[in-house]
Amino acid sequence: MRWWHVADVHALELDLFGTTAWSVESFWGELAQPNRSFLVALEADRVVGYGGVMVNGPDADVQTIGVARDQQGRGTGRKLLRALRQEVVDVGATHVLLEVRADNEPAQHLYRSEGFEQIARRKGYYQPDDVDALIMRAKLS
Ligand SMILES: CC(C)(COP(=O)(O)OP(=O)(O)OC[C@H]1O[C@@H](n2cnc3c(N)ncnc32)[C@H](O)[C@@H]1OP(=O)(O)O)[C@@H](O)C(=O)NCCC(=O)NCCS
Repeated sequence: MRWWHVADVHALELDLFGTTAWSVESFWGELAQPNRSFLVALEADRVVGYGGVMVNGPDADVQTIGVARDQQGRGTGRKLLRALRQEVVDVGATHVLLEVRADNEPAQHLYRSEGFEQIARRKGYYQPDDVDALIMRAKLS
């Protein structure tokens, strides 16, 4: 992800996450940080997906991942997730973690099929919807 992708990524983020969407400033802030890797999926010149990961010693955190609604179910999310994992393997991480809403079945399916296992549940983490967060982790090889 480069600075010129931020407006398109933010538009996708708003559509996918609504009131909990990151702000433009949050994306700018992330791009300015070390130990981050943010990627975009492009179809011709259109941004159809994005994802970001933060590395913290041996652990990495998937911070966000999203695919445009009209492009979902075509393998883009899986490719993004694998690319994010490769980014953190390349800098020595051994595990990758993420948080997902307990009611987000599509994302959980993707994560489980990529080797993530639930290690914890945070009750009522997502407010005001009062939805639990599942913490999932995968070992990197
Ligand atoms: C989660 C998300 C990134 C997946 O991206 P995608 O490009 O649609 O996913 P893929 O096409 O690569 O599918 C990968 C797997 O996800 C699961 N999946 C995708 N869409 C699904 C759906 N509608 N229902 C159930 N499982 C689904 C399947 O396990 C699928 O594997 P399969 O193709 O072997 O069946 C996408 O749905 C999205 O952007 N959702 C909204 C934002 C979001 O929830 N982000 C995650 C926050 S933790």
